[in-house]
This record gives sequence, structure tokens and C-alpha cells, in this order.
Amino acid sequence: MSQAVSPRELAAVRGLLTAIEADNGALPERWASAVASVPRHRFLPRVIWQRDGAGGYAPLDADTESEAWLATAYANTSIVTQVNDGQPADDGVAAFPSSSASAPSIVVLMLSMLDPQPGQQVLEIGTGTGWNAGLLAHVLGAGNVTSVEVDPVLAEQAAAVLAELTPGVTVVCGDGMLGHPNRAPYDHIMATCSLNGVSAALLAQTKAQGTILTPWSRPWCDYGLLHLTVDDHGDAQGRFHPYAVFMRARGQRVGLRLFRDVVHDDHVPAESTTNLSPWAVAGDDYDAQFALGLLLPDLWNVRHDNPDLDSVERRLWVATADGSSWAAIDDDGKQNEEFTVWQHGPRRLWDEVTAAWAWFEAHGRPSPGRFGMTVTADGTHRAWLDAPENTVAPTTGAT
Ligand SMILES: C[S@@+](CC[C@H](N)C(=O)[O-])C[C@H]1O[C@@H](n2cnc3c(N)ncnc32)[C@H](O)[C@@H]1O
Repeated sequence: MSQAVSPRELAAVRGLLTAIEADNGALPERWASAVASVPRHRFLPRVIWQRDGAGGYAPLDADTESEAWLATAYANTSIVTQVNDGQPADDGVAAFPSSSASAPSIVVLMLSMLDPQPGQQVLEIGTGTGWNAGLLAHVLGAGNVTSVEVDPVLAEQAAAVLAELTPGVTVVCGDGMLGHPNRAPYDHIMATCSLNGVSAALLAQTKAQGTILTPWSRPWCDYGLLHLTVDDHGDAQGRFHPYAVFMRARGQRVGLRLFRDVVHDDHVPAESTTNLSPWAVAGDDYDAQFALGLLLPDLWNVRHDNPDLDSVERRLWVATADGSSWAAIDDDGKQNEEFTVWQHGPRRLWDEVTAAWAWFEAHGRPSPGRFGMTVTADGTHRAWLDAPENTVAPTTGAT
């Protein structure tokens, strides 16, 4: 299973283990052994992508920059392994990351939370490079790991590396929201792309008392992990945890382009003012962003710096995910705590955001760990605060 490694690679692996322990504390022995035995660099493509400092991504090629490439492979950071779903970028549209090797410390944290036992069956959604599936297979043994990847090229590449390094992993190309019924039921399901809900199919494929762990996303923000336990009736309940920003599952991205899908020339928005800073709800406060995402499940936002408008330094756009209503909140940069609001469409979105913010403040600015979710077997979701009887958000249907 494990391969002969060079002294350089061995030193890199040791460095990575030290870095993970610095973030997570002491590692459970079996995950430390998995990280040491399943070489991360073997799962990476020869060309990986790094931020170019101008909002885009630049390639780093192992064939021309082998030292930098190997150092990146064993850094405790996520590595972008595919951009633009593997397609050339549209003219004028910034490249976006569409697959990555997740940061090792979050990979190990999630595996420790999932806590699968040798011999149990695990389904992973989002094979990506295959490294996470390889770590699982190292601990669980051959024949116990199934991994679904939506991108055929990535699925094929990962299947080839896994067959060589940790044989006995089933890699399936398909939509992970559907799971993989042929190998169900599973003791555990883990997603490594973020989901805005857990489908009825995934619940049905999890054993009673089995668990589902997934990074969380809403159009408002991607943040948090949801850890559910399935009961004897096929319903599931569990809590959120802070940490983790993952890329969204394909099919759940909100692909709005403002001036194509949302704002049109003939719109005449209503004007008002607000004292709520747009950056309180869509800034660096991830607790606030997480709560707003739960309370307002179909609202999306994007920040626009220097929008080329008189007396506007930054603008926050808010829209429904279907583009039918929108709001724009203008910040003149003068710190005067009054912002101009424009609202259009059947819903007054900034009023909804203001009400959600008032709720967030009135409840002591709760962090993700105070929230939980109940999902019934038909895929209906109900979010709660502190205890399952305290429903906090509109019930949402299956994803
Ligand atoms: C952060 S990467 C996964 C990292 C991976 N587990 C690893 O060890 O390298 C997320 C992956 O999820 C895949 N993905 C996105 N949507 C998906 C879907 N609906 N079903 C299955 N895979 C999906 C992406 O193509 C991408 O490869």
C-alpha cells in the first residue's frame, strides 16, 4: 500500500504532521499513520493553481518548479487543482476554483469528527484528488470506501491513483446528491464540497445511527459543518460546528450575473436609508453571515468596490437566488453610519436582512455551534437554536 518515499518527501510529510498538530492538537494515531502513509503529492496533478495577486489564478508546474510544487503539496493549505470546471475561462470572467485538495488540518479534523471504524462503509461526496478517500481506505481497509465525483476527468485521475496506492476504493462519476445506492447502506457519509442541504437520497442510504458530515453553504455564505445522526425512522438531526469554507457542490452554485440576471435598465428602485452597515451582515463576521444564511435561505450577496457612482465607495448587492428581487446598499466611505438603500422587486430584501440582523442581536449573536438542523426522511429541513423545539428559520424543502 504505502510507497517508498525519498528523504525529501519524508521530511515534507513530517513537517505536514507537525503543522496539522499545531492547528488541531495531537492527532489520533490512525489518522497520523494515514497521513504518513498516503503521500499527498502523489494525488496532485502536475499543474496546480495559486492565487496570482490580481484576483485570478496562475499555474505552478511540477516539471518546471519541482521544489515549489513539492513544498506546496506538503503545506497545510488547500491547493486548487482545477479551475473553471476544467474549461477555458470565458473572456473577461475571472477564473474560479472548481476542485482542490482541501487543507490537511480540516481534512483530518473532519475525519476525526466522522470517526469511522475499521470495516465500516463510508461514502464520500467530492473525490477531487482522491487523497481523502485514500486516507479513509488506509484506516477502513479495502472495499469499504465509495467516493462520488461529478467531474469525469477528476474521477478518472483519482481512481487511477487510488488503485495504485490504496486499492479497493470504488470511485463513481456522478452527482453526489444522489449518493450511490448500489453500495448502500453506509455507516457514514461525508461531503467534501459544501451542500445547502442533505437530500432524501443520502438519508435513505445511511444506516440507522449512522452519520452524515458536510460543509454547509447557503447563497449568503459558505461556512460551517453540519453533523447529523440518522434515526430508526430515517430522519436525521444534529448540530453545526464552526470552521470550514468549502467550494459549493456543482448544481448548488448561485450563478447570478448582476446586470444579466438581476438588475435591468427599466427597474426603478425605491430609495431609503439604513443605519445597519452592510459590512455587519456581509463582512468578516462569519457568525453573523452564517446566521443570516440560515434565516434567509434564498438570499445571495456580492460586494462591489469602486462601482463608479458619485459618492459611493463600496456597494453591497443583495438578490434572491432567482434574481426576482434585489437591493443595493451604498457606503460612501465616510464612516457616517448612514447608508443609502435601493430596493426593487416584490420583496424588500434589505428590510428582510434588517429583521434577521435584529433577531441575531436579540439572541446574543449566536455562533454556528448553537444552531442545529432536523432533516426528515423526505428531505425537509428545519433549523433550530440551542434545542430542536426552537425553530428559527423557515422550513426548506429537499435540495
Ligand atoms: C474540495 S474538492 C474535494 C477534495 C477531495 N476530497 C480531496 O481529497 O482532494 C470538492 C470536489 O467536489 C466535487 N463536486 C462538486 N459537486 C459535486 C457533486 N454534486 N457530486 C460529486 N462531486 C462534486 C468537485 O468537482 C471537487 O472535485
